Amino acid sequence: MADQQDLMELAKRRGFFFGSNGAYGGTAGFYTFGPEGASLKHNVEAAWRDQFTLRLGNDEIEAPTIMPEAVFEASGHLDGFDDMLVECAECGASHRADHLIEDAVNDIEDAEALGIERVGELIAEHDLACPACGASLAGEPVEDFNLMFETSIGPGSGQPGYMRPETAQGIFVEFPRLKEYARGQLPFGVTQIGTAYRNEISPRRGIIRVREFTQAELEQFIDPEEDEPPLGEVDDVEVTLYPATEQHADDGEYIETTIGEAVDEGIIGSPWVAYFLGIAQGWYERVGVDMDRFRFRQHLAGERAHYAADCWDAESEIGGNWIEIAGFAYRGDYDLTKHGEYSEDRFTVFKRYDEPITVEKAVVDPDMSALGPEFGGAAAGIAEALQDLAERNPDAFDQDEVTVEANGEEYTVDTEIANFAIEEQTESGEHITPHVVEPSFGVGRTVYTLLEHGYSEDEVDGETRSYLSLAPEIAPTNVAVFPLVSNDDALVAVATDVSQALRQAGISVSYDDSGSIGRRYRRQDEVGTPFCVTVDQDGLEGNDEDTVTLRERDSAAQIRIPVAELADELEAIFSGEQTFGDLSSRYGDVETDVTTA
Ligand code: GAP
Repeated sequence: MADQQDLMELAKRRGFFFGSNGAYGGTAGFYTFGPEGASLKHNVEAAWRDQFTLRLGNDEIEAPTIMPEAVFEASGHLDGFDDMLVECAECGASHRADHLIEDAVNDIEDAEALGIERVGELIAEHDLACPACGASLAGEPVEDFNLMFETSIGPGSGQPGYMRPETAQGIFVEFPRLKEYARGQLPFGVTQIGTAYRNEISPRRGIIRVREFTQAELEQFIDPEEDEPPLGEVDDVEVTLYPATEQHADDGEYIETTIGEAVDEGIIGSPWVAYFLGIAQGWYERVGVDMDRFRFRQHLAGERAHYAADCWDAESEIGGNWIEIAGFAYRGDYDLTKHGEYSEDRFTVFKRYDEPITVEKAVVDPDMSALGPEFGGAAAGIAEALQDLAERNPDAFDQDEVTVEANGEEYTVDTEIANFAIEEQTESGEHITPHVVEPSFGVGRTVYTLLEHGYSEDEVDGETRSYLSLAPEIAPTNVAVFPLVSNDDALVAVATDVSQALRQAGISVSYDDSGSIGRRYRRQDEVGTPFCVTVDQDGLEGNDEDTVTLRERDSAAQIRIPVAELADELEAIFSGEQTFGDLSSRYGDVETDVTTA
């Protein structure tokens, strides 16, 4: 397992990521991805897009990151997107109150679920001290702190706006248009990869908890009455589950099962959530997460976000702790209903029946020539209220008089004036509010997991080396090409040609001619480059065709291969058609490592 310090040091030294704005003292919670990290992150995003947009047949959008206040009033983030804050009276440092409890009290893994009052009590009971200055926090108030960054749109005080705390809202608010692109047909899915912002109280652990981060989200819109996921595709996928019931039990255990069994046995309530867990399991395996250090954990009731009816997290084990790297929430009709209520647009789809149906409807046809003179300006409102009452409670019209409320006033109306009747009407369909199932991935946390799970150390040529065992699809660079020495024109010319030929084949190449060949291998091992190609004199002299050595990162094994076949053989490895082992058995390992001589 990687030592966290070693990994952070490697991340900084080799340009994966480092704290931002260092020249100005740094800004907590903001990280810059350097050249290797940006490339790794883009590869993770590309692999996610390939699976969750292309292979699942979804559409991708790109919405703004700043949205007006009204959006977050509707979504509930203004009211409910809070963390628990406790401030030290002595030094003024701010802390996540629930995290202090989790760090200090052995049995408590999720203090947020306990609620703000209990967390305050626990801080006092355990007389917890400020991690910054050591002063007691007992008795300090624990408060809700809203995590959204506020801004103002336009000059002056302008219009209040917020940096989006989840990319999802950019999809929800555009639902009225997105449903048109889907020709009004459920189910359909919309994805987005983009930045989200949260003013975290105490950002920590490198890129694990930051204030600006990238999410990759899929919003799957379904008709809950009709739409079933293609569960057959993932029935046999094996998963490690940690349901809420097991977390509550004293001797709670993981459940090793398949997606199909988990649905049949009701361990995962929603087949749609189960389907996405199955797809995600395959994807995490594909990008190189160590599946022995991976699990799906169900949220406890008090832990769920304000919009979620059920939620499972994908968690990876990092430095002995379980970290949430993705959430799979059943959001129900919460978001679309709210945006429908707060906006002027329609957040429903029209669901056509197989056959038109005849329904009985309670209607009124108020006599306005009587209502007008009696109630004046209130008459129109009363007429509307009468229709509303007829639909809600037709029995009310059995009496001689009915009482309705209009514009905050009560009015009693002669039932005869309302002209109440039950009519038969033909309906061809109804407007329904789709439900949403949401797989939401943190890209930075996935990147961190891949670095931590891929980090290894071993002995090569009597020296300890560290290397990153990254999947070829994800590694920042596919192949490094070296001339054995930089002052031999013939070697340099062939190495340059080889680099160009590989690039033309769509393979990303790093050309390196500085330092000893051993140092160059170590440099590439440390950034996870799966293959190194070395052009040496032995390969050019006295052969029918030019050859080079091809070295695999994890085994450090080398083969000699004709230059003319290099690109095709590597492409076959990258596309999964063959392995380096297949090549070894065809070309034979290089017995003497000429390149480290
Ligand atoms: N739309 C649902 C949503 O935003 P979430 O669980 O709050 O759900 C989804 O966030 C993912 O985003 C998390 O699983 C995590 O990987 C990532 N994430 C959340 N907050 C983060 C932070 N402060 N820093 C880095 N990644 C974060």
